[in-house]
Amino acid sequence: MNIERTLSIIKPDVTKKNQIGEIINVFEKRGLSIVGMKMIRLTPQLAETFYQEHNTKSFFKGMTEFMCSSPVVVICLKGENAIKLNREIMGATDPQEAKVGTIRRTYGESIDNANAVHGSDSPQAAEREIKLFFQEEEIFF
Ligand code: TYD
Ligand code: MG
Repeated sequence: MNIERTLSIIKPDVTKKNQIGEIINVFEKRGLSIVGMKMIRLTPQLAETFYQEHNTKSFFKGMTEFMCSSPVVVICLKGENAIKLNREIMGATDPQEAKVGTIRRTYGESIDNANAVHGSDSPQAAEREIKLFFQEEEIFF
């Protein structure tokens, strides 16, 4: 068994459309457990720190502004190969390229901002990202 934790963020496009529950339902149905969860509004500073790997990209400013435009739900997910499984459940970054049945295909609108969810892409990223949002005592099970 390779039990991992990963970080998901339900992005502003989903929270604005009242679809938070639908996304959570997908995670649980696909075998990921929610072990930490909070609704927050990102500050520009936190959004920029979170996405620091992209700070030279042309989309950085618009994307970080979008992430602050409405509250988000940050979730610590746990399960067997949770990092890879979550990326599969999410689908490709561009909703138009994401496979049918993935969250981004179903709920995303466009790669520029409104692609529904974030998911950590490696064990190192997962550890860093979970620590940005959660104290250890805010994670359960
Ligand atoms: P990235 O880490 O490449 O994708 P993923 O979210 O699948 O890990 O990019 C981070 C976010 O940046 C992405 O979810 C949406 C935004 N973005 C754009 O707005 N335009 C782009 O061309 C790319 C690649 C990403
Ligand atoms: Mg990424």
